[in-house]
Amino acid sequence: MSMIMGDSHLLLFITIISIIQHSVDAETYACPQKCDCLEQYVDCSKKNFASVPKIPKWVEQLDLSYNRLNENVTGEFKKLLDMKVLKLDKNSLQHIPSILQHDQIQEISLNRNNIGSIDRGHFPANCSLRTLNLNSNHIKIIEEGALDNLTNLVTLKLNRNEIKSLPNHLFMYQSNLKTLELNHNKLHTITGLLFQGLSNLTTLKLKFNNIDNIMDGAFFGFMSVNQLQLDHNKIKSISKGWMYGLESLVTLSLSNNIISVIDLGSWELCTNLKDLDLSHNYLLEIEGCTFQHLDNLQILNLSYNNISSILQEAFSHMFLLQRLYLNNNKISWTVEDMAGPFSKLHNLVIFSLAANHIKSINSRAFEGLTNLVELDLRWNNITSIQQHAFDSMPKLKKFHLNSSLLLCDCNILWLVKWIREKVEQKYITATCAYPSEERGVSISKLKEDSCGDSPKPRVVEHPKTHLAIKGHSANLVCSATSNPFNNMTFLWKKNNGNISNPTVYENITMAMSGQPRATSVLIIPNVTHADSGKYQCIVSNNFGTTYSSKAKVNIVTFPRFLKTPTNVTVKTGETVTLNCAATGDPTPEISWKKDGGNDFPAARERRMNVMPTDHLFFIVNAKTSDMGIYSCAAKNPAGTIIANATLSVLQEPSFVRVMENKEVTSGDSVVLQCMISGSPKPVLKWLKDGTPITPTDRHYLTADDQLLIIIGAESSDAGRYECEITNELGTKKDMTELRVLPPVAIMVNEEDMTGIIIITVVCCAVGTSIIWVVIIYHTRRRMASTVRSFPAESIKMTQVVHSDSESPQMFPDNISEHSSCKDSGTGDSAKQTSFDGVPTDRSDQVHFETVVCRSYSPVPEAHKLLPSSFKPSIQVCVNTSVTPATYSFSSHSGNI
Ligand SMILES: *[C@@H]1O[C@H](CO)[C@@H](O)[C@H](O)[C@H]1NC(C)=O
Ligand SMILES: *[C@@H]1O[C@H](CO)[C@@H](O)[C@H](O)[C@H]1NC(C)=O
Ligand SMILES: *[C@@H]1O[C@H](CO)[C@@H](O)[C@H](O)[C@H]1NC(C)=O
Ligand SMILES: *[C@@H]1O[C@H](CO)[C@@H](O)[C@H](O)[C@H]1NC(C)=O
Ligand SMILES: *[C@@H]1O[C@H](CO)[C@@H](O)[C@H](O)[C@H]1NC(C)=O
Ligand SMILES: *[C@@H]1O[C@H](CO)[C@@H](O)[C@H](O)[C@H]1NC(C)=O
Ligand SMILES: *[C@@H]1O[C@H](CO)[C@@H](O)[C@H](O)[C@H]1NC(C)=O
Ligand SMILES: *[C@@H]1O[C@H](CO)[C@@H](O)[C@H](O)[C@H]1NC(C)=O
Ligand SMILES: *[C@@H]1O[C@H](CO)[C@@H](O)[C@H](O)[C@H]1NC(C)=O
Repeated sequence: MSMIMGDSHLLLFITIISIIQHSVDAETYACPQKCDCLEQYVDCSKKNFASVPKIPKWVEQLDLSYNRLNENVTGEFKKLLDMKVLKLDKNSLQHIPSILQHDQIQEISLNRNNIGSIDRGHFPANCSLRTLNLNSNHIKIIEEGALDNLTNLVTLKLNRNEIKSLPNHLFMYQSNLKTLELNHNKLHTITGLLFQGLSNLTTLKLKFNNIDNIMDGAFFGFMSVNQLQLDHNKIKSISKGWMYGLESLVTLSLSNNIISVIDLGSWELCTNLKDLDLSHNYLLEIEGCTFQHLDNLQILNLSYNNISSILQEAFSHMFLLQRLYLNNNKISWTVEDMAGPFSKLHNLVIFSLAANHIKSINSRAFEGLTNLVELDLRWNNITSIQQHAFDSMPKLKKFHLNSSLLLCDCNILWLVKWIREKVEQKYITATCAYPSEERGVSISKLKEDSCGDSPKPRVVEHPKTHLAIKGHSANLVCSATSNPFNNMTFLWKKNNGNISNPTVYENITMAMSGQPRATSVLIIPNVTHADSGKYQCIVSNNFGTTYSSKAKVNIVTFPRFLKTPTNVTVKTGETVTLNCAATGDPTPEISWKKDGGNDFPAARERRMNVMPTDHLFFIVNAKTSDMGIYSCAAKNPAGTIIANATLSVLQEPSFVRVMENKEVTSGDSVVLQCMISGSPKPVLKWLKDGTPITPTDRHYLTADDQLLIIIGAESSDAGRYECEITNELGTKKDMTELRVLPPVAIMVNEEDMTGIIIITVVCCAVGTSIIWVVIIYHTRRRMASTVRSFPAESIKMTQVVHSDSESPQMFPDNISEHSSCKDSGTGDSAKQTSFDGVPTDRSDQVHFETVVCRSYSPVPEAHKLLPSSFKPSIQVCVNTSVTPATYSFSSHSGNI
């Protein structure tokens, strides 16, 4: 029996042992009480646990969310070597539990606890953690280097914490991190290189922070980021500096910031961007370069800004754009007035312009939108739509329109037809506001025969492009009318922007037709450079808005001299420098004139040089021919100013030729010549035998006293004649001896004296100045009786041709290459040329009886040649080697 007992005891013992053993196994392997298990997943959430229940070792995913656990749970997990996912959301943890001592755990979720910081030491070296969720805690501080051991981390969520700043180099070892979420924190500065190390990051979320300062290079090193969310911050501007490093960015959202500025070139480094959200910002205008480089953009959201201005080129490079949201802005003239502002958006499918300030639609507004399917124009007070405005959008199906202010004149009938045929009508509510009897009626009910004139303003006088002079006032005029006439308001725009405090004068006048017209005059009282630009007037009334053409106003300033030439006096052979410079806008052109003309002797002789850059004007080797008034003109579109300077060239008095001794037969006439030059013109004094000569009936001086004419020489006229010349540079003297021979009888053929008896030609070449004077003496017998002492005659000057300036200058180089004779270019030039350069000799050969020779002789002075007292007593004798009648002098007139 005892044996049996013993056996049974043993059995019991074994049984107890096995029961104990079994219960231990059950504790280790069974699904914990209250929890739910499914394969390796153990769900112990929402069980109000204050401590961790026994968890089977095989657990791979453990959910302990919604309990009352604190961080003293660490020990409990040490045995759970297969655990990969642990959820501890919504517990009472105040610190990150130190549970990560083994290699297996990959994901921990600690959302909605009371964790206040992330300190160093929580994570072991080579920590296998791939996902760490810490949303909705109270994390304020992340210690420097706290994440260094999380080298395998792929996802880190820190949304809804209280992080104000992140330590530098925090992410140095997170090269595997792909997603980093920091939404709803209190970050306000993103320092440069903050995210250094995140080379494989693809998504960064920073929404709902206080970010107002993104430093240059903030995102540097983001080689893989394709999504960046910065919505709901306080970012003011976009600049290239902080965009640096975002080469791979595809989606960028910046909605709900206060962005008003997009710096030039901001997008240069993120040309792969496809989706850009800038809605709910403070943008005012889209310039040509605002989105420069974003050639791959597909979605652009600009809704809820203050955009009123979109320049023609703004979207011209976005060939791939599919969706464009411009709703809730202040767009008006872009659609009302511009020609094809969206014309390059051939791939656009959805386009919203809802809730803008569009009152009318230009026929070219939607040009080029060939693939557009959906167009939203609701919440604009549209009154009119120009015909063909929608012709460019053959694929349009959803056309949203809800205007109740349509102008139901004849111009809208096309729209009725278009809506009926082309689009789904359910998106459209369009009713008339005019004419009054049609108010509230749907345009689909309009009848073609009952439509009338347009009460919309029509511009009848557009402002005109012009130049305005700085400091003066400028006016721009704009007139409009409508039928029937309706009160209009004018708005003036400059470069598509408003003009602050414009001075505007408006009135209403009756045109000839009896039709009233309203006129607005924009007055710019004191034009400055800032006033230049394109001006446009916009006329509105209750029925619509009309745009005038744009008038360009260019501001010019009157030229003003910086340097003016001064009067100069030089000696021959010296160099003359004249200075002239002027300023103005545009920069004036400088030009020179001499004596009001363009004939510069110095230029012809290649002695003149104008240096435009230094505003200098040079004449080298000055000659007396260079003398005159030099005018420097500075000219620009505002006007011309002129400065004059007188150039005087001094030359010593000199004799052009040596005086020669002469013989004359008593009773004949003789001419003594003293041909001189010098500048200023020398004063000439004749002396006979040392006594100054005074003019008498028989002695007179002409050609500026260079010729002494003695009529009817007498023996007392014989003697020594001296010619003394003086100017500022000195005095010179020359002399000649006159011998008077006994008289010889002369036969004057009476026949020859009838009609034109004598033509005396004198060619006096004094330097370059060749003067031809023809005097025809008509001898009239009738007159003979009245003049006893001499053969009857009267003098008539038939022609005086002079061929040089009025300048009483004498020129020494009488063999000048630009002799007037050569210049004359007439059929008789050969004969004339025979005089060229030889008057010296020839005039000596010519036996002058009556001399009519002047170095210069404007017509009035020619009459002075012969003193009136002398006229009756001229004795004419022909004794010349030239046959005067062969000369044709008239051809010389005007040969300059
Ligand atoms: C965690 O345990 C330690 C000692 O084991 C204790 O001092 C501490 O108060 C516990 N923490 C909480 C939050 O209960
Ligand atoms: C990284 O792990 C090592 C070894 O486990 C530890 O000594 C160190 O404190 C950890 N570093 C941090 C920043 O947690
Ligand atoms: C991270 O990026 C580097 C190159 O930047 C690459 O070699 C590596 O494979 C990437 N790692 C992962 C996990 O994508
Ligand atoms: C459109 O017209 C309505 C009433 O006519 C007015 O209240 C509203 O401000 C107008 N909207 C715009 C954008 O002009
Ligand atoms: C035009 O407007 C002025 C002032 O705004 C008003 O006095 C006048 O009666 C209006 N005229 C018409 C025809 O509406
Ligand atoms: C109206 O303005 C125009 C343009 O300034 C002016 O010529 C005209 O005299 C003005 N009429 C009245 C009645 O003031
Ligand atoms: C015009 O403007 C300039 C610069 O603002 C000023 O110096 C000048 O006095 C003004 N002239 C008049 C007539 O107002
Ligand atoms: C330059 O000369 C002219 C005429 O010779 C004279 O009218 C003018 O006053 C002179 N100018 C100066 C600055 O001396
Ligand atoms: C400058 O000279 C030209 C002719 O050379 C003359 O017409 C003009 O009146 C002169 N102007 C002045 C300011 O002296």
